[in-house]
Amino acid sequence: MSSTAGQVIKCRAAVSWEAGKPLTIEEVEVAPPQAMEVRIKVLFTSLCHTDVYFWEAKGQKPMFPRIFGHEAAGIVESVGEGVTDLVPGDHVLPVFTGECKECAHCLSSDSNMCSLLRINTDRGVMLADGQSRFSINGQPIYHFLGTSTFSEYTVVHSGCVAKINPLAPLDKVCILSCGFCTGFGATVNVAKPPKGSAVAIFGLGAVGLSAAEGARVSGASRIIGVDINPNRFEEAKNFGVNEFVNPKDYDRPVQEVIAEMTNGGVDRSVECTGNIDAMISAFECVHDGWGVAVLVGVPHKDAVFKTHPVNFLNERTLKGTFYGHYKPRTDLPGVVEKYLNKEIELEKFITHEVSFSDINKAFDYMLQGASLRCIIRMVD
Ligand code: APR
Ligand code: ZN
Repeated sequence: MSSTAGQVIKCRAAVSWEAGKPLTIEEVEVAPPQAMEVRIKVLFTSLCHTDVYFWEAKGQKPMFPRIFGHEAAGIVESVGEGVTDLVPGDHVLPVFTGECKECAHCLSSDSNMCSLLRINTDRGVMLADGQSRFSINGQPIYHFLGTSTFSEYTVVHSGCVAKINPLAPLDKVCILSCGFCTGFGATVNVAKPPKGSAVAIFGLGAVGLSAAEGARVSGASRIIGVDINPNRFEEAKNFGVNEFVNPKDYDRPVQEVIAEMTNGGVDRSVECTGNIDAMISAFECVHDGWGVAVLVGVPHKDAVFKTHPVNFLNERTLKGTFYGHYKPRTDLPGVVEKYLNKEIELEKFITHEVSFSDINKAFDYMLQGASLRCIIRMVD
């Protein structure tokens, strides 16, 4: 038992008080974990677009004060009642979506959409009692995605915690909590490009480049990067992307351009933009007979996918996926092993690093489009 188990911990957290305003480092009180929860000492966290999106609160219900953060790695400090597979000292990745191992989804080998612990962006409290574990002078602070990793200590449902090899460097594997696995898994688990195939990646942000890493690892020979921002092309070369298309350079649909480049279409495409037109292009640019397109980006709430049904009759397949089809507790330890075996590269995603007190710089880098991932060091 750690000396802090069962007690309230006072620690530093970056609190967001108002939409779009810089976070402030505050002393917060973190309550002990309740039934099926664990309290984690966060060592490294990184910033993802999803944090920024909810921090800006454009179009969603604002929920403040809130502690953001969901890509992270840390060590279990203490566990609540009923937690049997985690102990203090375990190295873990908290994940924004969970795996209860009991619901119909968790029992199906085909699904990672756990009914109990699936992502819920509107919930700012813990499931056990509908309360927050964070407070400042008695004022509750909302959680974010059940993870809230912009805090030196956080409380997470044990079903949202993947226990990993303690030899893994936490300042690298923290990016597996969200962005990397979302793109990489979309390719290797869902698109499954055969060796030597041609793969189009729409959107060359961190998610798209992770999808490209999946194509590289799968042995794809042509990896075609599609982006309306040509500034992304140079960096993408480090991720195995070897051909580039900017839809803005053409006065016809980009799917036609890609079909010409590839003698009828790519074998696989992965869409990582969130843009509905890119989603339609990603589908229509795959080869008839065998092409598979996978949608990853989060679309605008009013978006409608429109394509001619003949595209399906001609044996093109359209799929969508969530978190790279990974079950967090079951599958993440294996992804960590792949990194330790040097089968996948994570370093190239980490373009910046800041100390916790400089967390607002991580937001600036992302808003300027300068960073893929900025690691935030919680311990100096
Ligand atoms: N065609 C091609 N590329 C596009 C288009 C389009 N119509 N629209 C946007 N893009 C490009 C952008 O220029 C950018 O380079 O898609 C890229 C998206 O990258 P980021 O904004 O860095 O986003 P990322 O973090 O990689 O996430 C991508 O996945 O998880 C979701 O919500 C996330 O929808 C987003 C997507
Ligand atoms: Zn479940």
